[in-house]
Amino acid sequence: MRIVVTRRPPGDALDMLRSAGQVWVWKEDTPIPRHVLEEQAPRANALYTMLNDRVDRPLIDTAKRLVVISNMAVGVDNIDLVVCHERGIPVGHTPDVLTETTADTAFGLMLAAARRFRGGLEYVRRGKWDEWEPRLLLGHDVYGSTLGLIGFGRVGRAVARRATGFRMSVLYAARHRQALAEADLGAHYVTLPELLRESDHVIVAVPLTEETRGMIDAAALRAMKHTATLVNIARGPIVDSEALIVALRTGEIAAAGIDVIDPEPPPPDHTLLHLENCFVIPHLGSSTERTRAAMAELAAENVIAGLRGEPLPAEVPPPSSGGVGNRRSLAG
Ligand code: DGY
Repeated sequence: MRIVVTRRPPGDALDMLRSAGQVWVWKEDTPIPRHVLEEQAPRANALYTMLNDRVDRPLIDTAKRLVVISNMAVGVDNIDLVVCHERGIPVGHTPDVLTETTADTAFGLMLAAARRFRGGLEYVRRGKWDEWEPRLLLGHDVYGSTLGLIGFGRVGRAVARRATGFRMSVLYAARHRQALAEADLGAHYVTLPELLRESDHVIVAVPLTEETRGMIDAAALRAMKHTATLVNIARGPIVDSEALIVALRTGEIAAAGIDVIDPEPPPPDHTLLHLENCFVIPHLGSSTERTRAAMAELAAENVIAGLRGEPLPAEVPPPSSGGVGNRRSLAG
């Protein structure tokens, strides 16, 4: 069995894969070039991919021997699930193991953006820290404020758990109401317009789908409070970058915390990278040693099970099962 791995994973994943077949790995510290992936796909029984590999219909059409695809990510918007379903190729991903780490990142970005950590860092680096100033870099409170979660899946709920410690009121907009989680976390189900209007901090935690693409557009940003923070830990294209630039420049919203951006990677002169009220990190949501190793190993377990014809430990539901939020129902 030939297993094609598009980037060297952390942890014990490669050893695990080697016990299941012959492993070919792209060894460079850059994403695998498309033409190399195209050369490898037809010879692969299993594809072990990263979230920035495009696994689309043309690629899958050439991969006649493929029996399993395993993405080392929870998000699978880089994979054409419809064609995989048509071909009966199970797709694995890495839910659960990254939930808490990603929620930490979301919370960290909210604090950093709302409390103007970037402005503080730049101030210090420019040698401007002189005397204590009563009006220096005034931000907005997180403790005791209202948090709006767009998406109330694993990560959204994990953020809500953190918010209770900060005595925040939690609103959420999602495809389905989740009565049990509401009771557990004291969160309130609202429509997207209500959430945007009422929240002091808005965190985007939905998967990228055709319905959520561009969901946070100019109108959504205008609906937010002038003092509000927007955090995106989901996927860049859910937020319209140009509209966000306008909103941050004109003060329609106060600040943004960005783990994912459109385009990704951004060119070095992308305006969002240079605004003082935009705190940007390079898609580090799940980036701790323990979590990335767990993701890599779960992705390897998915490959191994797929090659044996067994159910994958973490299989992506078929595209028709609608496991994700959509804009219409979020809008209420
Ligand atoms: C994922 O797994 O989809 C995350 O974006 C990785 O950090």
